[in-house]
Amino acid sequence: MLKLHIISFGCQMNAADSEEMTRPLLERGYQMTSDIAEADAVFVNTCTVRQHAEDRAVSQIGRLRRWKSRSPGRLLIVAGCAAERLKESLQKRFPFVDLVSGAKSIDEYPAALEQVLKKKFNFEKETGDYFPSAPPAGLKSQPFSGAPQSHVTIMRGCNYSCSYCIVPAVRGREQYRSPAGILQEIREKVSRGTREIMLLGQTVNSYRYPREAASFGRDALLTWRRTGEPKTARDFVDFPDLLRLIEPTEGLERIRFMSPHPHYVSDSMITAMAECRKVCEHIHLPVQSGSDRLLRLMQRNYSRLEFLSRVAKLRSAIPDIAITTDIIVGFPQETEEDFQDTLRLVEEADFDAAYCFKFSPRDGTAASPMQGQTAEAVKKERLKRLLELVESRALSKKARFIGREVEVLMEDVRFGKTRNFFPVKFERAQTPGRLARGVIGAFENAALVVKG
Ligand code: 5AD
Ligand code: SF4
Repeated sequence: MLKLHIISFGCQMNAADSEEMTRPLLERGYQMTSDIAEADAVFVNTCTVRQHAEDRAVSQIGRLRRWKSRSPGRLLIVAGCAAERLKESLQKRFPFVDLVSGAKSIDEYPAALEQVLKKKFNFEKETGDYFPSAPPAGLKSQPFSGAPQSHVTIMRGCNYSCSYCIVPAVRGREQYRSPAGILQEIREKVSRGTREIMLLGQTVNSYRYPREAASFGRDALLTWRRTGEPKTARDFVDFPDLLRLIEPTEGLERIRFMSPHPHYVSDSMITAMAECRKVCEHIHLPVQSGSDRLLRLMQRNYSRLEFLSRVAKLRSAIPDIAITTDIIVGFPQETEEDFQDTLRLVEEADFDAAYCFKFSPRDGTAASPMQGQTAEAVKKERLKRLLELVESRALSKKARFIGREVEVLMEDVRFGKTRNFFPVKFERAQTPGRLARGVIGAFENAALVVKG
């Protein structure tokens, strides 16, 4: 039996891509393994968003030299954003890699993989259960079987050009999947045990799909129109529409999405979030900075006030919504005053959590050659101050759940997440993959705990 091991760096988009890109291997009879030593194939999905992420991915590939040399038949595939950026240099530096596939060439990947596999294996001989044509129904999505949560990619790429960000260069322009395809994937996953889906896209809420081309049944559209907004003829199915289309899916309990761009958090999106029961009370809304001057330099396409007003609308439309964010410190030309604006914004927006990063200059982005780069020591010091503020607030925000009953989707016997995305531990065993309810009795080691 051939065994496959996956190493995935970076965002949830990458995790979803790993799932999709290793599917052809699983269909051929590879079995997943968490033990790299026994693997016949390793799939590495790389990330390049910050230098640190890229360095980690590259040194991981370097370490695989020994694994590969133990048996020449072993298969090593490197994919993702760093693979896109470094393509040729990766191939030169690590000639033992069998296939380097950049994030942009995901369409050509199946054919390229086919080529490599043909050269390497005689599957009938190797596995004894190679499916020569289409695999029997039911086997196709085998890897998703039983996973209570699943990712569904609804768009790829990004049409923005935030001045610090390498993503548009490595992932290309936005491409959207059809609502029919999205709904079909969700139904398939739900039929195999998925209860919660995470819709993924670089700017997930800029999703749109021409109505003319959207080949879903008219009924689905008519159903939500009757309860929806003014009946003007619109040319696109947009993100709020998509939420309303997914909402009636039988057996599905929760809908999440990642990551929305503040510019597209429209009133109609907020209304759809509020009206769709299954859409969870959580939004991860990257702000990046609290200073208008920096937001302009970053080319984020919103002001501090616009961001805060959307946060206020979300909070008033969706009671108890958790709001999390991403923040970059030490962007070029960031003054102490700019940084103070960010600290103040963290207080005003009242975030439940924030991922904080030191600015990392990426070659080929507009911010990398900018005048006035911030010294490393200053970046470090600001990151520390920001983290202190963020963490102290996050603690008090979580503590508000003590004494309250919550709904938890169990990922394991004793662990799951609330609709607001807070981790919860249960002292008593629950059924994995099911919703459980419990009263939060304590807050220990950064986790909410249901006692007894
Ligand atoms: N430097 C630091 N942080 C970055 N991010 C993206 N690019 C950079 C960079 N060059 C952060 C942003 C983004 C998150 C995924 O990574 O905050 O939202
Ligand atoms: Fe990068 Fe900006 Fe696109 Fe997000 S919206 S992926 S930060 S360019």
